[in-house]
Amino acid sequence: MKLFFASDHAGLNLRRALIDHAVSLGHEIADLGPETSESVDYPDFGNKLALALASEPEAHGVAICGTGIGISIALNRHSHVRAALVNDVTTATLTRLHNDANVIAFGDRVIGVETAKDALTAFLNTAFEGGRHQRRVEKLSPTS
Ligand code: RB5
Repeated sequence: MKLFFASDHAGLNLRRALIDHAVSLGHEIADLGPETSESVDYPDFGNKLALALASEPEAHGVAICGTGIGISIALNRHSHVRAALVNDVTTATLTRLHNDANVIAFGDRVIGVETAKDALTAFLNTAFEGGRHQRRVEKLSPTS
């Protein structure tokens, strides 16, 4: 799977660790930055990730900031994005099964690296369940 990664400065370390993890699992990576720990604004990188997903709808995203909250809010303002802030394997799995989430978000200041790796693996290995969840997901982005 093609994966876009983006964070702010507070998510830099976890982003790097998760990129290495995703590469080790055989996924194709596009890193949207930032490249240094200089302070940046999480909406800029959330919006950058949303634009990348608009151009490649089959891809998924990994978004990280200090709490995971700010970058999730930025991403979810885009109607084609369903960004899920997760803290464990259970929520990572369920958000694929039930929400068809196309972005997994983490808080670098909240979650441990090993837990985040396990959650990312679960997210990438789980397919959307469809059925009644399809109707609910469609209602997340009403067309009128
Ligand atoms: C940056 O200090 C911090 O506010 C940001 O990473 C994030 O936690 C915001 O939601």
